[in-house]
Amino acid sequence: MKHIFKKSKTNNEITLLLLHGTGGNEYDLLSLAQIIDPTASILSVRGNVLENGMPRFFRRLSEGVFDEEDLIFRTKELNDFIDDAAKQYGFRRDRIVAIGYSNGANIAASLLYHYADALHGAMLHHPMVPLRGIELPDLTETKVFIAAGKHDPICPPEESEELYDTLKKAGSDVELFWTNGGHQLSHDELSRAKEWYAKHF
Ligand code: MLT
Repeated sequence: MKHIFKKSKTNNEITLLLLHGTGGNEYDLLSLAQIIDPTASILSVRGNVLENGMPRFFRRLSEGVFDEEDLIFRTKELNDFIDDAAKQYGFRRDRIVAIGYSNGANIAASLLYHYADALHGAMLHHPMVPLRGIELPDLTETKVFIAAGKHDPICPPEESEELYDTLKKAGSDVELFWTNGGHQLSHDELSRAKEWYAKHF
């Protein structure tokens, strides 16, 4: 997959996995990663799917309606890519913290829904429920931060709560932070995300 890798210049063992929103690319979240942890390694990936020229991490049938077969295929593809990148670049596979926004948060949530060891932690900015009707792996070792907008036209509050409950039932240590806004990233959520990260990693 098209990506950027930047190795930590310190002995920080965390790698931040950056996953952009629809129409974004691997450069979008670099400045956010700099705010969250300037000394971590960075693996920033571009989604392999194009929707009218806009990169995404999996196909959708319409706004908010996901192509589940493609989602499952792309989730495995991304997980395999991370496995290979860890070997190629020599970073710890078990110290990956994802930062995803919107479509990127949805594929990060799908990694959590499918694989116990894909992510050490995940910061999901404005995610949706990636899919329903599957049993989640044991996520006891996984810490998750969710930021959701009370007035998000793409993801209603009940859906953020459903995601929170599902991850919690799977054993994850999860925090749900509400913003007063919609689907956009806010200063409030970034400062809370930074605090959450500093507390856990
Ligand atoms: C998705 O398709 O993943 C969600 O609707 C969010 C987005 O617009 O990318």
